[in-house]
Amino acid sequence: MPAAADPPERHFGDRQLAESLLAFWADAGVDAMLLDDPVDRIEAGRFVPPPRPAPVASVSSPAAPPRIGVPAPSDVSGAVAAAQAAAAGAASLEDLAAAIAAFDGCPLRTAGAATRAVVYRGEPAAPLLVIGEGPGAEEDARGEPFVGRSGKLLDRMFAAAGLEGRVLITNTVFWRPPGNRDPSQFEQAICAPFLERMIALVEPKMLLLVGAPSAKSILKREEGIMKMRGRFFEWTSADGSRELPAMPTLHPAFLLRQPGAKKQAWQDLLTLAERLDRPPRG
Ligand code: URA
Repeated sequence: MPAAADPPERHFGDRQLAESLLAFWADAGVDAMLLDDPVDRIEAGRFVPPPRPAPVASVSSPAAPPRIGVPAPSDVSGAVAAAQAAAAGAASLEDLAAAIAAFDGCPLRTAGAATRAVVYRGEPAAPLLVIGEGPGAEEDARGEPFVGRSGKLLDRMFAAAGLEGRVLITNTVFWRPPGNRDPSQFEQAICAPFLERMIALVEPKMLLLVGAPSAKSILKREEGIMKMRGRFFEWTSADGSRELPAMPTLHPAFLLRQPGAKKQAWQDLLTLAERLDRPPRG
């Protein structure tokens, strides 16, 4: 699912668009199509199965191979340990960004699509940390997360929900994946110590996990995004010392393709904003 990048302008009927949409739905856990009204096919008595379509090689578009297709780097645990050591030495967000930029343990850095590390943008003391999946082409070109069409939509939604200036935005990985594919679980695991350090430095009150690859990797859950979205889960840091409420929601790239789903994402954001502003009990 090429959700990390803004969808290019395309026309309906475009086969690639249909494949990419199907891939998103499959990833989102949509496994059945239902009509609004029931159809009694026995009564109708003349149901002829439609001819089988030519098999499609994969539910993902060619530009977005599935996560499982990305081979594990040779020494994942060594790279994770190196990331932990580099992250631990960062005393500020600026230090952390410099440590990430100098880190050469993530295969995405040299996979061919990234020209630089893309780390964060927004308010350094934000109560809400927003975590997307990975930088796209525009983010790579500008060095900041969510600055393309998806990011603009996200910014408009935050402003409308009263969250403008109250978010820090980052991703599960800091280098643009080739072909705008989803980051692999190994790439996410190698970048995770930096993300954990960012959470420790920023001390947000909540996490907003944007899109399935972010929600699955941060919460270590396998449900589709449609099942998880709009609900609060407890995120726990790797050392168990820190817990935060975390809400998965739909990726804005999907909302740009499927404007009808904006209602759900908007509802998610309102639920989150209400909890963020709720006075502490006591
Ligand atoms: N999609 C993401 O998940 N992150 C970005 O930074 C841009 C697009």
